[in-house]
Amino acid sequence: MVSRVLGNYIENLCINFLVNQDKSMNFKLPDELIFLRNSKATQKKSFTSMTGKVCVITGATSGVGFEAAKRLAKGGAHIVMVCRNLEKAEYISKKIKAEFKVPVDIVIADFAHLGEVRKAAAAILNNYTRIDVLVNNAGLHSTVPIYTREGFELVFCVNHLSSFLLTQLLIDRLKESAPARIIQVNSEGHRFGGLDIEDINWKERRYNGYRSYGASKTAQLLTVWELADRLKGSDVTINAMHPGDVKTNIGNNNGWLYKLFYHLLIRPFLKDPIISGEAIYYLASDPEIHDVSGRFFNLTIDEKPAAHALDRNIGKHIWDISMQMTGLHKS
Ligand SMILES: NC(=O)c1ccc[n+]([C@@H]2O[C@H](COP(=O)([O-])OP(=O)(O)OC[C@H]3O[C@@H](n4cnc5c(N)ncnc54)[C@H](OP(=O)(O)O)[C@@H]3O)[C@@H](O)[C@H]2O)c1
Repeated sequence: MVSRVLGNYIENLCINFLVNQDKSMNFKLPDELIFLRNSKATQKKSFTSMTGKVCVITGATSGVGFEAAKRLAKGGAHIVMVCRNLEKAEYISKKIKAEFKVPVDIVIADFAHLGEVRKAAAAILNNYTRIDVLVNNAGLHSTVPIYTREGFELVFCVNHLSSFLLTQLLIDRLKESAPARIIQVNSEGHRFGGLDIEDINWKERRYNGYRSYGASKTAQLLTVWELADRLKGSDVTINAMHPGDVKTNIGNNNGWLYKLFYHLLIRPFLKDPIISGEAIYYLASDPEIHDVSGRFFNLTIDEKPAAHALDRNIGKHIWDISMQMTGLHKS
C-alpha cells in the first residue's frame, strides 16, 4: 500500500514535470516520449449503441479482452469470444449473459497453433453472416523462448501471426458487413523494438522477453499500415491501440522470479483494465472515427508510434513473411 502510494506519487511527479515542461515555450517532448503525456490525457468515450452488432473478440477470458467484451455487451453487442480455455470461457460467457442479457457465443482456439486459428475462422464464417467488429486482443509475454509445434516462436505466433491469419480469413465477411472495424490490441511495448526480418524466430540471437514482445507488436503494427492501405474504399477500418498500463494476468505464465518482480514492482502502479474496455468501445463504435484507419491510439489518443514501426519498406517484407508463415499466398 505504502509502496503503491509512493510509486504513484513519484511517477506522477516525473510525468507532470515532463508534461509541464512540454507546455512551456522552451521545452518540447521528443516524439518518443509523447506517450507519457498521452497516458495522462483525458480519454474519449463513446455512448453510441452497438445493439445487434456482431463483435468477435479474441482472448476475452481475462484482462483487457474481458473488459472489452463486458463493455461491448453493455452497449448491446452480440459477443463472439474466441478463447483457448473452454471452462474459463463458459464461466465468463455466463457472467456476461446474466449481466447484460445479450447473446454471448464461444469459439475455441489455441493461438499457438495456426491450424486451430483456421478452424476458428471457419466456425465463425459458418455461424455468422456478418461481423461488425473484430478485436484481436489475445496475447502474452514470455521471458524464455518457447516454440510452437509448427516451429514458430510462441510470442510472435500468438501476438502477431494468429491475429494476422484470423483477420485475413475473416476479411471478406468484414467487407460484406461494411461499415466494419478491426481493432488490434497492440502495445507501447512495440517501442522495445527487437524485430529482425532475418531472424523472426529468435534462432540466431540471444532471446530477450521484452524485445520478443516488442518484435511481435512491431510486426503487427507494420501489417496494420499495409492492411489499411489494402482496405481503402471498402468501409472497413483497421486501427491499433495500446490498452493502457493495466492490471491483468499478463506475464503469469512466467517463472516465480519474474512474477515476484512484476507483482511487487510493477503491478501496484497499474490501472484498472476498465479503461481498456472503454477505449476499445470508443474505437469500435464512435461515429467520430468511422473513417479513421491505419492509426495507432494510446487508449483513445491518436499517437505517433516508434520510428522503427513506421518503416513501410520493412512493413512490406513483414507482410510477405506473415503471408508465407501463415500459409496464405504471397500478395
Ligand atoms: N496489461 C497491460 O498493461 C497491457 C499493456 C499493453 C498491451 N497489452 C495487450 O493486451 C492484450 C491482452 O492482454 P492482457 O493484459 O489482458 O493479459 P491477460 O489478462 O493475460 O489476457 C490475455 C488473453 O489472451 C489469451 N491468450 C493467451 N495466450 C493464448 C493462446 N495461446 N491462445 C489463445 N488465447 C490466448 C488469454 O487466455 P487465457 O485466459 O486462457 O490465459 C487471455 O484471454 C495483449 O495483446 C497484450 O499484449 C496489455
